[in-house]
Amino acid sequence: MNPTIAKERIEALTRQLNNYNKAYFQEAKSLVSDFEYDKLLASLEKLEKAFPMYRLADSPTQRVGEQSSTNFPTVKHLYRMRSLSNTYEEKEIKQFVQRIKNRLPDEKIDFLCEIKADGVALSLTYVNNRLTQIITRGDGTKGDDITINTPLLRNVPLVLKSDQVFKEVTIHGEAAMPKAMFKALNNSYEAAGKPLLANPRNATAGMLRTKKIAEALKKKQPLTFTPYRLCAVGDAVTATQKAALQRLQAWGFDVPPTYQYCKDIVAIMQYIHHWEQAKHHLPIMVDGIVIKLNNLALQAQIGATAKVPRGMIAYKYKPDQAATILKEVTYQVGRTGVVTPVAILAPVALAGTTVKRASLYNAKAIAMLDLQIGDRVFIEKGGDIIPKVTGVDQQQRKAGQKPIKFVTHCPACNSLLVQESEDALRYCPNTLSCPPQLKGRILHFVQRKALNITTIGNKTIDLFFEKGLLRQPADLFDLTATQIAPLEGFQKKSIDNLLQGIEAAKKTPFSHVLFGLGIRHVGFTIAEKLATHFGNIDDLMAASEETLCATPEVGAKIAHSLITYFKHPTYRAEIARLREVGLSFVQAKPTIADDLPLTGKVFVVSGVFKSYSREEIRDYIQKKGGKVVGQLSSNVDFLLTGTKPGPQKVTKAKALAIAIITEEALEKMTKKKKGLSSLLLGMHLI
Ligand code: IVH
Repeated sequence: MNPTIAKERIEALTRQLNNYNKAYFQEAKSLVSDFEYDKLLASLEKLEKAFPMYRLADSPTQRVGEQSSTNFPTVKHLYRMRSLSNTYEEKEIKQFVQRIKNRLPDEKIDFLCEIKADGVALSLTYVNNRLTQIITRGDGTKGDDITINTPLLRNVPLVLKSDQVFKEVTIHGEAAMPKAMFKALNNSYEAAGKPLLANPRNATAGMLRTKKIAEALKKKQPLTFTPYRLCAVGDAVTATQKAALQRLQAWGFDVPPTYQYCKDIVAIMQYIHHWEQAKHHLPIMVDGIVIKLNNLALQAQIGATAKVPRGMIAYKYKPDQAATILKEVTYQVGRTGVVTPVAILAPVALAGTTVKRASLYNAKAIAMLDLQIGDRVFIEKGGDIIPKVTGVDQQQRKAGQKPIKFVTHCPACNSLLVQESEDALRYCPNTLSCPPQLKGRILHFVQRKALNITTIGNKTIDLFFEKGLLRQPADLFDLTATQIAPLEGFQKKSIDNLLQGIEAAKKTPFSHVLFGLGIRHVGFTIAEKLATHFGNIDDLMAASEETLCATPEVGAKIAHSLITYFKHPTYRAEIARLREVGLSFVQAKPTIADDLPLTGKVFVVSGVFKSYSREEIRDYIQKKGGKVVGQLSSNVDFLLTGTKPGPQKVTKAKALAIAIITEEALEKMTKKKKGLSSLLLGMHLI
């Protein structure tokens, strides 16, 4: 290649990959598929090898990848978290096995194969068998201390199940969101009018990067943890990777039974082929497999390059990908007015279905892909679920094609679109008469988490809208049998059913009604919080922006949206009508008291206790409904201290205004069922 062209190509690839990295690591968004990314990275590596003088200082080939986000304290890893060399070629796996044999000619070589979970790498440290810290991979030598997000992980043991006490062990593994949880979460995002998450890995990264996680999500424990490396010294060390996984399992980790001892390349290939199909049935996304030298002493002996260990390699599966022609781009208007571009494609078979449309997300994604109508494009199924356009075949581009310009006006009502900032989504401001927005709002109002009127769906709303029977949710309650009877497809029975469904919905609790109003940024969880906090719609409507912002979980964006909504005469009139028909705008008092006295309370335990061992006191708290965590944070309610508590813990608890209590106080708290808050008032704080 001509050096000038090579230089330009290196610069362009570096810029492009760095943009992808920034979007991925700082905004938790994937702009390209892994496959595409790996291909670009491999060509950059090749070019840099041939023309090392053009390699740039910020080349993505020189880093593991992730930049620390500023939100969390950065801490050093006890054990370096390297990356893995990876390949899509079977022949490179054979070469890998051969290389190891050449390096270790006199040794018996065998392997352990594992699935490669597609999530976010984490490092967990246990001191004296207790979980003390969780760190993200970061740049491999230091990462973010995200210990406060421990409650998001459903299967991380807080204490190692072992009679032996280990002074310090570190476990590396992958946090991932199960596919089912990802689907459920995206459904709820859709209902709340939020942009959808691209895939489970992004969802995991985004969640772990968030400082304030809603209690509701913590309770769901949306992420799983799969351990893949035990780092330790002395007694905790095992001779083989297989024994390490077995030990981790015995300690209480969920080690999936997908790993396999492979004595040679034939067994490795069988493993690769088996999981290529079988991976679709696993609960989490798997993007490949990892082949590891089973003997850990030999692994250590052959060591690592600057970036990757020599004793392991990842074989990555090619994503289900197809190429087709981009016929046109259409635009969809959502309930909240957000306009989303959709690619209309020449139909093509992909992973068992025929794909005719694919998401293009937003204007930025279109620009990054440099799309033009008539392009030959590559499509993939992101997270096995939503098809998306991942790249363009530049070679096939013909002269005369033009870049795609995002529409400036609403495709449904022709209003000028609004964009709050350069990066923001574009939306149609005509909330009062843009048809897809009106219909979307009614559909949202009848959905399961709102009024749950199962007798009305998309098609009925379309028909009623067309006939002028429905424009706003409140119109539902004015519908009569006489109006519906002349319409096609309605018999007496279906009309009765429909009207009964509407009537029954009048009993819907306030929080669901509030969610059903479809206020921008007010998802189900926020609606529940607001309903509980304010108790009724009048107090909520009267609240100032300041008061709203002071409400748990409510930020400036939500507060602003609420104020705007409640100021609007149309929406005020809508609420008045809904109130008139008898919907509930007052939160009912909870009828069932929490039966366990410590439900919802979070403890940190420190020091030596008189009547309990550490283990026993933790069990005690857990049995009474409380939760014990390793680290103090603003989510912790109590520091429970015995004699000789950790001085740093006490100082930190004071700084965070966390109540410091003794074991006697704990016993008192748990004796009286309802006495927790009154006891708290009179409690003796150290
Ligand atoms: S071993 C020295 N084993 O894949 C690196 N990694 O693409 C040790 N991963 O950073 C990694 N499953 O986050 C290993 N069974 C497995 C894995 C696995 C997923 C991730 C890990 C790593 C990335 C490399």
